[in-house]
Amino acid sequence: MRCALIGVTGQLGHDLARTFDLPGELVRLTRSELDLLAPGAVGRVLREIRPTHVVNCAAYNLVDRAEDERDAAFAVNADAVGALAETCEGLGATLIHFSTDYVFDGAKRTPYTEDDAPAPLGVYAASKLAGERLALERCRRAFVIRVCGLYGVGQSATAGRTNFVETMLRLAASGKPLRVVELPMPGPVSFQGRRLPASYANFYIANGLVLVPTFNDKNDRLALNILAEVFSDREVVGIYCGDLIWGFGAIHCMTQQQPAA
Ligand SMILES: NC(=O)c1ccc[n+]([C@@H]2O[C@H](COP(=O)([O-])OP(=O)(O)OC[C@H]3O[C@@H](n4cnc5c(N)ncnc54)[C@H](OP(=O)(O)O)[C@@H]3O)[C@@H](O)[C@H]2O)c1
Repeated sequence: MRCALIGVTGQLGHDLARTFDLPGELVRLTRSELDLLAPGAVGRVLREIRPTHVVNCAAYNLVDRAEDERDAAFAVNADAVGALAETCEGLGATLIHFSTDYVFDGAKRTPYTEDDAPAPLGVYAASKLAGERLALERCRRAFVIRVCGLYGVGQSATAGRTNFVETMLRLAASGKPLRVVELPMPGPVSFQGRRLPASYANFYIANGLVLVPTFNDKNDRLALNILAEVFSDREVVGIYCGDLIWGFGAIHCMTQQQPAA
């Protein structure tokens, strides 16, 4: 077995490399050794290595920014995966590709199975789903593994070189108690057959008040009450966002992107 591991500087890739204990060789590929976006690099590098297995942990993971960087997200998460799958097929290698639970819209109230229809809500999720499909279409020995939150010692290449465990340890060391507050979700909001990302968590903390999106939903009041308790020093104001959400965001998102003109 010769296993080529792509994305070794990321959270998952780091820990897979650290714990690799199969007989055979592990070839760790950093971006400088294989840049998935460099023209022809995937075929050239993998044909040199001649792996029996390729494990792809590389990804464009900037979930929010992907809404503005569609091409960049699809280039790594879909097009490059298609090239990996084609190359693996040509080499007779097995491709193990990682994807995400974000391919689902989260509306199902029981655990998802492989047979559930994906319904991605944003560009990141759509790009990951496109990658899954290309992997399975172009390589007969392709496996897609959908993961959700990652917990390990590897640090995220995307989220500021840290991870969940380190963040929790840092917060604990600071002496501040942690409080996890559960917010309900509004019922599904759709436009022209497309599910929109309606969520009460898209609130905005301003001086003296918190603006919270509402959707004429039975959970509006519950969410407002929970947030009023959390932000007891501020006035909590609900603003109907049924129209705003057509743009795939609500009040918090509105404060992020400033159009240049
Ligand atoms: N983190 C999560 O909670 C989570 C949740 C669900 C699914 N997933 C999925 O799990 C997998 C691993 O995620 P992760 O959190 O470990 O990722 P990560 O920490 O963000 O690491 C991404 C990796 O991809 C590499 N990469 C990005 N663009 C590349 C390119 N053009 N060429 C070569 N390498 C490139 C990065 O290299 P550099 O270090 O050089 O940038 C890095 O090694 C992904 O498929 C992700 O979609 C993750």
